[in-house]
Amino acid sequence: MKEYPVIKVALLGLGTVGTGTYKVLQKQKEFMAEKIGAMVEVKYILVRNLEKAKAKVADPGVLTNDWNTIVQDPEIAIVIELMGGMEPARTCILEALRAGKHVVTANKDLVASDGEELLGAAGEHQCDLLYEAAVAGGIPIIRPLKQCLAGNNITEVMGIVNGTTNFILSRMSEDGMEFEDALKLASELGYAEADPTADIEGLDAGRKVAILASVAFNSRVTFADVYTEGITKITATDIRYAKELGCAIKLLGVARNTESGIEARVHPMLIDSKHPLASVSDCYNAVFVVGDAVQDTMFYGQGAGELPTASAVVGDVFDIVRNISSGCCGRIGCTCFKQLPIKTMEQIESKYFIRMQVEDRFGVLASVASVFGNNSVSIAQMLQRKVKGKDTAEIVLITDQVEERHFADSLKVFDGMSIIKEVSSVIRVY
Ligand code: NAP
Ligand code: HSE
Repeated sequence: MKEYPVIKVALLGLGTVGTGTYKVLQKQKEFMAEKIGAMVEVKYILVRNLEKAKAKVADPGVLTNDWNTIVQDPEIAIVIELMGGMEPARTCILEALRAGKHVVTANKDLVASDGEELLGAAGEHQCDLLYEAAVAGGIPIIRPLKQCLAGNNITEVMGIVNGTTNFILSRMSEDGMEFEDALKLASELGYAEADPTADIEGLDAGRKVAILASVAFNSRVTFADVYTEGITKITATDIRYAKELGCAIKLLGVARNTESGIEARVHPMLIDSKHPLASVSDCYNAVFVVGDAVQDTMFYGQGAGELPTASAVVGDVFDIVRNISSGCCGRIGCTCFKQLPIKTMEQIESKYFIRMQVEDRFGVLASVASVFGNNSVSIAQMLQRKVKGKDTAEIVLITDQVEERHFADSLKVFDGMSIIKEVSSVIRVY
């Protein structure tokens, strides 16, 4: 029987992803050695509450609440950080790297803000720092961008990278639910967090876009650089009109590498129903990548959850084990070698969907059109409905591509016009 080396690892955190990672590593034991040329042994699991964690592991002897024991143990080759949040995760990762240990993390918050420092420390100590699970859970996207697609100039990465909001928008679209009811259902089914703010306000997706843009365009983009807008103002009425116009409404993360700089933003968007992202529904995620050689590609799957996320974590661990065996750790470190400018929203061009309530009488439509005309906004499509029992008409317009600042100027004029009773919705169009 062939003897295989044993690589000892420490898990930090035994929550959803930590437990999933432990399970996947146990399940992989049978063929692990043949697959990656070594056995991975979990020597420690760092938890806060030892009693609570006992039921989750086969050998409670691995549980500890002492980080120093882990970082000072020369046998630990890989630290798997799955605690989440900024601290103590950041300190633990830096201390592990400085001690020559490789690190796997799923921590999007940390990578999106402090990625440069963490990858710098990994490079300095010739260690691997891998974070495949930080973006779109189980979907392989960081490794494809850094490796398989390295022969491309990537021009665009766009995706549905938040499962909770995609579930909510799917229920609104398919079942006609309003936002609040769909959010309630997402909470009841355990999809939405107790505090859903980071999901519904687009912050979780914004962190993923920062990481995707940095990797895709070889230039650092942090979470602070990403414009974020959530889905709380989207209504079932907007979705009905979008359908009438041949579109779906999705919360999209968009990163573009243009001649004048990088665009990095998250906001709801109307997207043509024929676009592959339009049919990504429920909790599923997908990332659409455009490269100058490969053209259009799409990566689709489960963007969150215990086992899908653990799949990405364990893939990273196995990759490092192979690197250790081949003596080539730190082979692919930080890939941000450019310093591209990042565009502000005022500099970005978009098409717009606008829904408004106006007085139902002659000349109103002409006035609306002239405000747009005076601000260099061209109208591409229009729908109009009489609002029952009221002297009001509902107008829905889609503009051509326009600079954000020109569209914003039109909105300011509408604000002071008595014939316009309300601007009910403004949504960008892909
Ligand atoms: P979670 O269920 O809240 O688990 C985090 C665990 O870490 C908890 O058990 C917590 O202990 C423990 N922990 C926190 N601080 C600790 C400390 N100082 N010492 C020891 N243990 C500590 O979170 P999760 O959903 O597994 O997420 C983990 C990471 O994966 C996050 O960075 C998250 O963004 C990322 N991620 C999650 C998903 C997903 O589907 N859940 C998908 C992609 C990425 P207590 O139980 O005592 O609080
Ligand atoms: N809360 C995220 C989502 C999962 O709903 O997709 C963790 O990234």
